[in-house]
Amino acid sequence: MTKAVHILAIESSCDDTSAAVLEDNKVLSNLIATQSVHEEFGGVVPELASREHQKNIVPVVDQALAKAGIDKKELNAIAYTNGPGLLGSLLVGTSFAKAFSLALDIPLIEVHHMQAHILAHFIQNSSDDGSPKFPLLCLTVSGGHTQIVRVDSSKEFKIIGETRDDAAGEAFDKVAKILGLPYPGGPQIDKLAAKGDPMKYSFPEASIEGFDMSFSGLKTAVLYFVRDEMEKDSTFIEKEIENICASVQHVIVQTLIGKLERAAIQEGITELALAGGVSANSALRKSFEELCVEHSWNAHIPDFEYCTDNAAMIGIAGYFKFLNSEFGSLDNAPKARLSL
Ligand code: KG4
Ligand code: ZN
Repeated sequence: MTKAVHILAIESSCDDTSAAVLEDNKVLSNLIATQSVHEEFGGVVPELASREHQKNIVPVVDQALAKAGIDKKELNAIAYTNGPGLLGSLLVGTSFAKAFSLALDIPLIEVHHMQAHILAHFIQNSSDDGSPKFPLLCLTVSGGHTQIVRVDSSKEFKIIGETRDDAAGEAFDKVAKILGLPYPGGPQIDKLAAKGDPMKYSFPEASIEGFDMSFSGLKTAVLYFVRDEMEKDSTFIEKEIENICASVQHVIVQTLIGKLERAAIQEGITELALAGGVSANSALRKSFEELCVEHSWNAHIPDFEYCTDNAAMIGIAGYFKFLNSEFGSLDNAPKARLSL
């Protein structure tokens, strides 16, 4: 029997400091330190994020190793996010990973954050029984990206459609800010929308040919709508927040699912997946499942733990690269922008 591979994985691309330990494709631990300092600013402040990463990274790694019951000396490699993301945040994880690799004399593995969101589906001990098969069509929806990606193997990714401006998560967060909700707004909108009427208000859906999308007009439409209504009745947001949230969520989900459906038909793919932070959204998960049932497609939805940013997804992406002997170098710098 071949010996198990142990990988320490680090994720620090935005405002979560996360470390995970994997044994082959199984997660032994996955720790996440979220940063609350950004709440009062209504969004992530890059400089504060990197300082928090610096404070958190050593304790988070210590805890991940302790929880996994793995000693540093048993590690075969260290995988880390090398982009895309906030440069200052990425630098903390990169520097840590390089120092660790040098001190332990183990290989470094560079992981693309958006590829990792998709490859999270291949974590063995998640509740999705049976990993997806290739080719896979994945709707990756996060705070920074919204993409429909055709995946032909663990290293072949092709963008079929993407947002031309704001990401879906950004649209949720910006609308939440207009409504006076704390950051990140996506989960807040999800919760309030559950009690609202999605048909109460109709917000425009951008009409773009093909599989690209646009969400910046939605934010502006909500801004003007709320401003006009508040001029007539200053308690409008307070009274109608659940219906506004449900209506906004409805149009975002409709856009995403409509594009995904047409892309799957065009590509002739029957294995479909959701990934990224917005895949935690309950309305999106429900519509996605209904879509797949309607077409008899196989639906893959990640566990909540692996939807939002986490190091376990970096670990599984790192594991695939380890098997292919695709190692990084101490000379490589992280990149804020990185194509898929
Ligand atoms: O993937 P992620 O954790 O970080 C990025 O790589 O961007 O995604 C974060 C985004 C945020 O915009 C957040 O508001 C959104 O995911 N999000 C949600 C929900 N949970 C997280 N959006 C809608 N409904 C949710 N339940
Ligand atoms: Zn992410």
